[in-house]
Amino acid sequence: MKKVRVSLGKKRSYDIVIGYKIASNYLEKLIKKLGLGNEAAVITNPAIHSIHRNAIKGFLKRLKANAATIKIPDRETSKSNRQVIKIIESIVKVDKGRGLFIIAFGGGVVGDTGGFVASIYKRGVPYIQIPTTLLAQVDSAIGGKVAIDLTSAKNLVGAFYQPRLVISDISILRSLPSRQIRSGLAEIIKYGIIKDKRLFKFLERNIKDILKLKRDPLEYVIYRSSKIKAAYVKADERDTKGIRAQLNFGHTIGHAIEAASRYSKLYSHGEAIAIGMIAASEIAVKMGLLKRPSLERITNLIKKGGLPTTISRGLDIKKIMKAQLYDKKIIHGVNRFILPVRIGKANIYEKIPKRLISEVIKNRCA
Ligand code: GLY
Repeated sequence: MKKVRVSLGKKRSYDIVIGYKIASNYLEKLIKKLGLGNEAAVITNPAIHSIHRNAIKGFLKRLKANAATIKIPDRETSKSNRQVIKIIESIVKVDKGRGLFIIAFGGGVVGDTGGFVASIYKRGVPYIQIPTTLLAQVDSAIGGKVAIDLTSAKNLVGAFYQPRLVISDISILRSLPSRQIRSGLAEIIKYGIIKDKRLFKFLERNIKDILKLKRDPLEYVIYRSSKIKAAYVKADERDTKGIRAQLNFGHTIGHAIEAASRYSKLYSHGEAIAIGMIAASEIAVKMGLLKRPSLERITNLIKKGGLPTTISRGLDIKKIMKAQLYDKKIIHGVNRFILPVRIGKANIYEKIPKRLISEVIKNRCA
């Protein structure tokens, strides 16, 4: 079992605990230590619930908490105001005023929605993240960005609201489809490119074993990624200093690909980001910031990770260009890209010429 501390001062610091079978063996001990209260609402999704039903029942029993288990569908449309109110109505039924806390036990949808509910219910109650996808373990469960969507845009209504604990139980990942593992891997590759050349090298050597979910290399990359994410959150918790924004490497064009495919699952988040990382690296090469051999290493690693390097599923370039213009990272009409300058280091650049952006998007269209 490994621990990473997210250091945010006395009141809001918390641990990310990474290891095997923690959820079934240690959860109640870890929760009891935090002294959160006697009423729990577990927010989860039907698939996770059907696999881990007994584990959930077991730890709630051992916690001796008055508890509700609330299932929400595992799709983006669950991140809605209607779903939030439904969840709160279920919570109200178990809340007898003896200290209620929330456990978000699922992937990004459950984590974002559960965390958001925790941030607004009674003006804020404690919550714990137990992410069940690789993507959520290395990224969305860490750092307190919680939100729901409006029809006009994703994550438009939200808050910075830190969890009290994150439990990344690697044994839970065994039930994931391999496409979801690859999607999480894209974010891990991102950390290597923007911050950690040793992690990048490790991935070059071990990616096959990681895809097979071999315990030691998988645990190491989740640990390294969590450490990197924790450092970004510590340096720029509210994403105002242009430091945490580096985590958006690959996300400008990646989000545009997702939006152009209207979040249809044509491209998973990680797949879209993989293409976005190559496109951003190509911009960096064209601007003379990154050496071509580094771009080749990035492309090769993404390929070895079983992720796409080109847009080949009939997406309209014009739609991608248009979606890219609506990106949240455009501030006062000025675009912002995170570009790598070498493997292990990236910087923020503004006003990238439109011609360059459309050129690299065209290059990515097979
Ligand atoms: N996923 C990007 C961030 O947490 O800032």
